[in-house]
Amino acid sequence: MSETSQDVSLVPLVRPRCPLTIVNSVGQAEWACDLAQHLLETTLPRRWAHTQGVAARAMSLAPILGDEADTLTAAAYLHDIGYAPDLVDTGFHPLDGARYLRDVAKADDTLCRLVAHHSCAVNEALNRDLFDALTAEFDEERPELVEALTYCDMTTGPDGTHLDVTERLAEIHSRYGPEHLVSRSITASTPCILAAVQAVEKGLSAVRQGGNL
Ligand SMILES: [Fe+2]
Repeated sequence: MSETSQDVSLVPLVRPRCPLTIVNSVGQAEWACDLAQHLLETTLPRRWAHTQGVAARAMSLAPILGDEADTLTAAAYLHDIGYAPDLVDTGFHPLDGARYLRDVAKADDTLCRLVAHHSCAVNEALNRDLFDALTAEFDEERPELVEALTYCDMTTGPDGTHLDVTERLAEIHSRYGPEHLVSRSITASTPCILAAVQAVEKGLSAVRQGGNL
């Protein structure tokens, strides 16, 4: 055995760990990262890359969210777990993900609500005849958290890189095509998405002007 191969054999086989998220914060984000990685990394690696990008955006909002940045980061990690093959039930990923979090993972209600309603999901729920189920099972969360999660998702591309919201909307239309239910739902959701992004950018701008960013 050469020295090189011997060295390699001594390297412990460890799964990459989720990063420590918010400095000095002990909360749900690391738990959420582990769960999302377990559900997405192998089966849907591109979705996992997107998820990590959305979580990074969430962490960057700490200056405007304070202690709630940990909750937002946890929701960012979890927002697309409904795409995981093991979780698919209705085929509507916000509802499938939120039901898994409520019934199996026993997650905090705030996380379940944020995942259920992320990125203006009610419009796609209407198009899938799942509006009554979604709204009966999961109340809306506070606007500042809902808008922040929508901002993070809608400014992150499918490979996790940052996109302007208009580029992100165009990317979704081009990926699904004009007739697809998702494209029609995104069209209906566009005013809600743009309003959320504007609200968060306004908050970031105010913090920058205050010298805290
Ligand atoms: Fe997403």
